[in-house]
Amino acid sequence: MAGNPSAAGAVPTAAIRGPVLTFTGDPFRLGLEHTMVHESDAIVAFGDGRVTHFGPADAILPELPAGVPVRDYGPDALISAGFIDSHVHFPQTPMIGAHGAQLLDWLNTYTFPTEGRFVDKAFATSVAKVFLQECLRNGVTTSCVYCTVYPQSVDALFEEAERLGMRLAAGKVLMNRNAPDYLLDTTQSGYDDSKRLINAWHGRGRLMYAITPRFAPTSTPDQLASAGELWSEYPDCYLQTHVSENTSEVAWVKELFPDRSGYLDVYDHHRLCRPRAIFGHGVHLDDGEMQCLHATGSAIAHCPTSNFFLGSGAFDIGRALRRERPVRVGLGTDLGAGTSFSILATLNEAYKAAQLNHYALTAGHAYYLATRGTANAMYIDDKVGSIAPGMEADIVVLDMKSTPIIRYRMEFVQDFMEALFVQMTMGDDRAVQATYIAGELRYDRAGAG
Ligand code: GUN
Ligand code: ZN
Repeated sequence: MAGNPSAAGAVPTAAIRGPVLTFTGDPFRLGLEHTMVHESDAIVAFGDGRVTHFGPADAILPELPAGVPVRDYGPDALISAGFIDSHVHFPQTPMIGAHGAQLLDWLNTYTFPTEGRFVDKAFATSVAKVFLQECLRNGVTTSCVYCTVYPQSVDALFEEAERLGMRLAAGKVLMNRNAPDYLLDTTQSGYDDSKRLINAWHGRGRLMYAITPRFAPTSTPDQLASAGELWSEYPDCYLQTHVSENTSEVAWVKELFPDRSGYLDVYDHHRLCRPRAIFGHGVHLDDGEMQCLHATGSAIAHCPTSNFFLGSGAFDIGRALRRERPVRVGLGTDLGAGTSFSILATLNEAYKAAQLNHYALTAGHAYYLATRGTANAMYIDDKVGSIAPGMEADIVVLDMKSTPIIRYRMEFVQDFMEALFVQMTMGDDRAVQATYIAGELRYDRAGAG
């Protein structure tokens, strides 16, 4: 099936050539055969930050104005919409791989002391630079990011993302109890700081704000109510938090909120369940809670490397996507509980989490999740997540033969779907050869290092 080869109005200034994989809709609902586009020799042209042309090379090349440079990545490449990470903590970049604890101990032992360092804006900026470079090296072009309780850590990240032209959502953590004093805000200061940040950053270029109560245990009911109030003032912001990640956490929330029927009900009660709400994990949600997410248009960020690393459990994606009440599901790395910036490595673990629930995620469905599916969970699938004229030109170019053993394994693949599955099983950052942000080449493996 070919993509729409028509132009979108803007004049192309550059183009790339190679095999393309993209999606025109949701394969979980409509089937891969109706939604997956694989063009074995395609042109993607961009101008003014957007895709202007996409289609078979022989059809598109004659349409390009004379002199438009075409970079040919060759038949072993795979061009895709940039990967999207719907749940990640940039301040935890310096503490990835902290040994020996499950969620609540891990937070107290490693996470909170690390986040305390972000009171220093210069340190926050230095980490933001490393974090965003790693995103680009892994083909991640959009993320939804937790910062720390300190507003200057949010400024630091947005300043760097703006410099790179990235579409990125982020927010100041709201946290007024059950954490060290140096990391606590108050209901009022959390509201005021968040409001200042929204006015400074939300809708500026490609940046978006996410109101970010860390999770129910670290906010009083009063702070959750205040977050709901702020969100009703700025309804096109995101709301991100964690839910039902770990069984001890679920039991603690029951103790802290005895009047609520369950963990998700704490958020629903405070008007935090609706479109653009992104709930991290949801490993232990019951069917009633899944129904609530479906009915309210809320999303789950599925973070498999984190869930395995912290021993939280194996998220049942098949149950979440059940046809009669599908929940929007995005993919997340959840660094630094997650262990890899690589979305290919994250898909590898998503496959295993599904297998533990007797569900065999196909490679096609997995790549949808990593791109358009996560864009859909974030309500930005009209802007990013697929390749078509008019879409923002955020693109990753993969190398399908990125290591000696992958190159060898590829000699034996029977078809494209098998090749795709090998990439998500064996591939990592080495498979990313180029990343484009709004049509600008921001990472080039050939020139890296
Ligand atoms: N729950 C509350 N805070 C966090 C966090 O920083 N990481 C993870 N994985 N879960 C959380
Ligand atoms: Zn998290």
